[in-house]
Amino acid sequence: MALKTFSNCRIATMEPGIGPYGLIPDGALVADGEVIAWVGAQSALPSACRHAPTIDLDGATVTPALIDCHTHLIFGGNRAQEFELRLQGASYEAIARQGGGIASTMRATRIVTEDDLVGSALPRLDALLGEGAAVVEVKSGYGLSIADELKMLRAARRLTEERPVHIVTSWLAAHAVPPEYQGMPDTYIDEVAVRGLTAAHAEGLVDAVDGYCESIAFTPAQIARIFEAADELGLPKKLHAEQLTNLGGAKLAASFHALSADHLEHLDMEGVTAMAQSGTVAVLLPGAYYTLRQSQRPPVQALRAAGVLMAVATDANPGSSPLFSLLLAMNMACTLFGLTAEEALIGTTAAAARALGLHHRYGTLSVGKRADLAVWDIAHPCELAYRLGLSPLSMRVIGGTVC
Ligand code: NIG
Ligand code: FE
Repeated sequence: MALKTFSNCRIATMEPGIGPYGLIPDGALVADGEVIAWVGAQSALPSACRHAPTIDLDGATVTPALIDCHTHLIFGGNRAQEFELRLQGASYEAIARQGGGIASTMRATRIVTEDDLVGSALPRLDALLGEGAAVVEVKSGYGLSIADELKMLRAARRLTEERPVHIVTSWLAAHAVPPEYQGMPDTYIDEVAVRGLTAAHAEGLVDAVDGYCESIAFTPAQIARIFEAADELGLPKKLHAEQLTNLGGAKLAASFHALSADHLEHLDMEGVTAMAQSGTVAVLLPGAYYTLRQSQRPPVQALRAAGVLMAVATDANPGSSPLFSLLLAMNMACTLFGLTAEEALIGTTAAAARALGLHHRYGTLSVGKRADLAVWDIAHPCELAYRLGLSPLSMRVIGGTVC
């Protein structure tokens, strides 16, 4: 046993059933190697743990390390010029239809090497880790050829060789139709999205399968084909749904028991009910809503009332959400979407873990889960969603080890 005690702290366990934030005001936590062996009131610390090496946290607040459950962290180039065009009045959809948008990042991603992709992603990853993240989901979707999609996911996997982080990969070849398949989206789904999935899965590169169900991307029928391929391989599913229009994507995702449906600004009651029934998590992405200056907000009150778990993520990408701060995403989820500060923190811990199917090991602080902690120089966890542009992180603990 390699016990280590973290003492003298306020612990937001995020466990349900023990009050707001699952808070233990005068707490201690014991790690046995990478796993939590004990958590509770300092005064109740078992005597066997009192002699373990102890880190005195001096009254700091501890939360589960944060989880960014929706990012496009791997990409070439940037789209600052499209930002300027949008400021002049051009819409995201219009830019996409004129060969910009995802296709523009596809061109910039195809011409760089796997090494380049790792190198350019590291500062972005460091920004997330610097705010207490321990798990980051990363999607493909800017290669749009089998070779380039594989290149993206190989780069994503390599991030774990460079930093202490758990990376979850999603196969998002069904993100846009590349120019060589223009007018032939069904052929693209068969020849690249489905065939490439099999190859990527065989190489161990895929943890989940995602798609973009949207007027400027793929129809529910096309997404269903890639989901069927995911089912054949036993892979979990997620979907970009109801972002700009309502095509019934969330309902489709729920019918496949998807882990999550993401964006959801245009979600209707039928979609809410379907998600509640299937236990599909609603991943809210306020960075994209803000960047695209959308006006329709996701139906947070209806999701809440139906008992749909809400996660919050950055959607970090070069176009619709150049946001690399989970704390700011949490603040935006409160201010723009009406989440409570507690819901925002659930959104980047317990609910985010569930959106990735990792809730058995991540997302709350209880015995048997990973000792992945974020230690904050704050007096109460509600402060995490409160400030803009100032990270109060004082320590990150990954698998019981201080980073
Ligand atoms: O989640 N919605 C589709 N995909 C990304 C945007 C990708 C891009 O604009 O490059 C998103 O917002
Ligand atoms: Fe996205």
